[in-house]
Amino acid sequence: MHAVTLRAPIPHTTHVLQASSTYTYILACPETGDAVIVDPVLEHAKRDATLINELGLHLRYALNTHVHADHITGTTALRKLLASSGGAPVQSVLAAASKGKADVLVAEGDSIKFGTRSLRVIKTSGHTNGCISFVLDDSSMAFTGDALFVRGCGRTDFQEGSAADLYDNIVSKVFTLPEECLLYPGHDYTGRTVTTVAEEKRCVAAMLLRCWAIVRLLGRRLAQRPAAARLPFPRLYHYMLHPPALQPSLRHCCRFNPRLSKGRDAFIKIMAELGLAPPKMLDIALPANLVDGEGAVPAAAAAPAVVAAAACTVAAPAAGVGAARAS
Ligand SMILES: [Fe+2]
Repeated sequence: MHAVTLRAPIPHTTHVLQASSTYTYILACPETGDAVIVDPVLEHAKRDATLINELGLHLRYALNTHVHADHITGTTALRKLLASSGGAPVQSVLAAASKGKADVLVAEGDSIKFGTRSLRVIKTSGHTNGCISFVLDDSSMAFTGDALFVRGCGRTDFQEGSAADLYDNIVSKVFTLPEECLLYPGHDYTGRTVTTVAEEKRCVAAMLLRCWAIVRLLGRRLAQRPAAARLPFPRLYHYMLHPPALQPSLRHCCRFNPRLSKGRDAFIKIMAELGLAPPKMLDIALPANLVDGEGAVPAAAAAPAVVAAAACTVAAPAAGVGAARAS
């Protein structure tokens, strides 16, 4: 957590709110020091402000991927802390579709510039109707908020969520990014910090194409051999199923995301049957996050009842369907 470069965003877990497991990321232009922070958390505003000052960064934007239901954004607190230490003004960013307050309301195709670099906004609604993700200008990394987690995704049963919308957005906008694109999620409940497009996406078609290409190649080679040298059927069958050349393809085509790998209808059914309890902090977080976290009190400094509410945010994961807790 030292060098702040575009190749090394800084993920912070919010250990104050254990159940939230929110990740915050800081990205900085290596040439100018202009920086953005993605999904800051109120309880960690001091930590983040300290880090930004220590590294001599100029925070330009505080980006929120959506109006969170499980924690309060640290946008306003961070802005005040940095202003008090002589920092440049920080502008908050939120999707216009979220109907919340922010200095900059964005929609798909908009660009957030910091120094010589920028993040492109893509609409990834479905977890909420106002969810957006941010893709770095060279498509080497993306910040997917609660739309896509490592082996999971955000729940879709409140805040005008839609499983069909989420599936369509992920498949058409996230899974079409380069396969090596690093995906940084908004949460992880087991400590995983990053994944890639290749790991998460469903690519049965690609696997079938690769299999077909290998079978065709094998067929050509076998046809060139004299009959006596051809493999007996059992060995041929095994070789066609498990040729060494196929192994890398299989690794790349593994359908690791247990929700999104099953197709659209199955995904909608899975999401409808999660049966999660509402986030415990819903009634506190939503109103605060609709106004950039203004007036909100950090959980550590709040009354005990608020602390208790903040510390039990989400229900247990549903078996077999991946990262089910979905803020
Ligand atoms: Fe969320």
